[in-house]
Amino acid sequence: MILTDTPRPGAPLDDKVRRLSSASARRVIEPDVDVPGHLGDGQLLPDELLSVSGLDLDLTAEQKRVLSREEIASITNAGIAFEAVLEAGFALEIARGRDMTDPRITFLLHEIGEETRHQRLFIRLLEDIRPQAVHPLDKPVFSFIERRAIAQIIQRPALLYTLVLGGEEIPDLLQKRAAEHPDTDPFLRDVNRYHRQEEARHLSYARAVVPDVWAKASRVDRRAVATVAPKIIGGMFDMLVHPGVYEVIGLPGWETWKQVRASEKRVALRHEATRPVLAALMDAGAIEAGSVPAGWRSLCGVDGVGEPVAAGT
Ligand SMILES: [Fe+2]
Ligand SMILES: [Fe+2]
Repeated sequence: MILTDTPRPGAPLDDKVRRLSSASARRVIEPDVDVPGHLGDGQLLPDELLSVSGLDLDLTAEQKRVLSREEIASITNAGIAFEAVLEAGFALEIARGRDMTDPRITFLLHEIGEETRHQRLFIRLLEDIRPQAVHPLDKPVFSFIERRAIAQIIQRPALLYTLVLGGEEIPDLLQKRAAEHPDTDPFLRDVNRYHRQEEARHLSYARAVVPDVWAKASRVDRRAVATVAPKIIGGMFDMLVHPGVYEVIGLPGWETWKQVRASEKRVALRHEATRPVLAALMDAGAIEAGSVPAGWRSLCGVDGVGEPVAAGT
């Protein structure tokens, strides 16, 4: 018997992952060729999609123009860094793989390839914007904490996949809103559409494998999903637009950031963006209805069984 010619058993998960790989292979989009163009010089997002919307600030047209550009730059920066952590985690998963013919490894290679293309396109956005904002956490002590945290995250698969879901669901909602609004910069709309279309496969993959990742997860990893993950995802959401952004247009950085963070509109956005992550974990059996951990309840605005609670309760 020639073992190398023996196909892997066609488990449903394997079949699904193979289909996702085929879809990736059929639609290779090289942004340098297929997504040409640049951002315009104006306001990139409509007023209602700015983070400060609902705060009743009296901003000039120029302040809103600059703010929109700095907000997109801050989100784009965070996106590039997030995708790099994801690539590192997936690369480690491949390096530790026992069977390199596992269809998941092929999909991870597709996903890493797609992310690096997204990152190059995102860099073009940053080159167009040339942001001025200084991230207040860009200091040696925070870099040290960040390095330690990333090292911990990428070696805990259940935590990593939970954060992958968070890091994909949150931008998906923001990009959907921007792509669907007629006043969004036309090139930014194109970028958002392209990115969402590829991320849809990544989300399908993450949702599909989470049950298996969870089944094999260590106790420490499982505990981290219940307690640490919602805090990290909340932090990622809050820091998409960092305090330095507001300082560029003359507003007090941390003060404005805190107001944004607590604003009704922003809280509702956070709930809407993070509920699908909780739903995926509940579908996977990682979190049970009736015992949704406190961190997840507060992140997603839900009760103990995972049902949305009215704002302000
Ligand atoms: Fe991406
Ligand atoms: Fe992705």
